[in-house]
Amino acid sequence: MGSDGKYNAAKLALELVKDGMVLGIGSGSTVEIFLNLLGKRLKKEEMEIYGVPTSYQSHFAAIRNGIKIVDLLEHSEPDLCIDGADQIDSKMNCIKGGGGAMTKEKIVACASKKVVIIVDESKLVEKLSMPVPVEVLPFAYGYVSKKLKELGAAEIRLRHGSGKVGAVITDNGNLIVDCDFGVIPDKNVERCEMEINSIPGIVENGIFPKKIIDDVLVGKS
Ligand code: 5RP
Repeated sequence: MGSDGKYNAAKLALELVKDGMVLGIGSGSTVEIFLNLLGKRLKKEEMEIYGVPTSYQSHFAAIRNGIKIVDLLEHSEPDLCIDGADQIDSKMNCIKGGGGAMTKEKIVACASKKVVIIVDESKLVEKLSMPVPVEVLPFAYGYVSKKLKELGAAEIRLRHGSGKVGAVITDNGNLIVDCDFGVIPDKNVERCEMEINSIPGIVENGIFPKKIIDDVLVGKS
């Protein structure tokens, strides 16, 4: 069910892409489906698409699909950012970072003229409630953990991966902690995002308040 929904959301997003556009390219499996569909379209139609990827995963997938890689130095304002999400509440606030790429994802989303999130129905929730992914400078891990607890996190889990022993290291060389703040009501979302980021040693967190997001495309199975 999930992957049909992801495919349908990706297909809707494909209609937004026009020749010559610079895309902000998020990360995750839904974005990868989108890139594969875009690649097929690029083979059929004579068009050029440029992309600013937000992870090694989307960088490699973009290259495989014929998208020309550019960066924010050259194109500081991508035309359209397409990204996935892990949870979206009824007001369009998101939690991202299931794939650990939220830092570059947030930079590229904020830089882009328009941000469209593509998800299947399983990501829709009334209120945000999953643990918030937080990218942390390794040097600061002990201090940051203490401060996150003081901020109200009931549990803080250092993310471990598969295919490697020990902690997940992000594309930026940092750690990820998943912080359980329980249910985050809409009115607290922006404050929660800012308070987490105000702790020295935290690089970014996975809360994407609704003000960053223009549209959400939900693919049904
Ligand atoms: C990566 C992300 C992804 O967009 C999010 O995890 C959704 O992934 P998927 O499309 O595989 O469900 O935020 O950091």
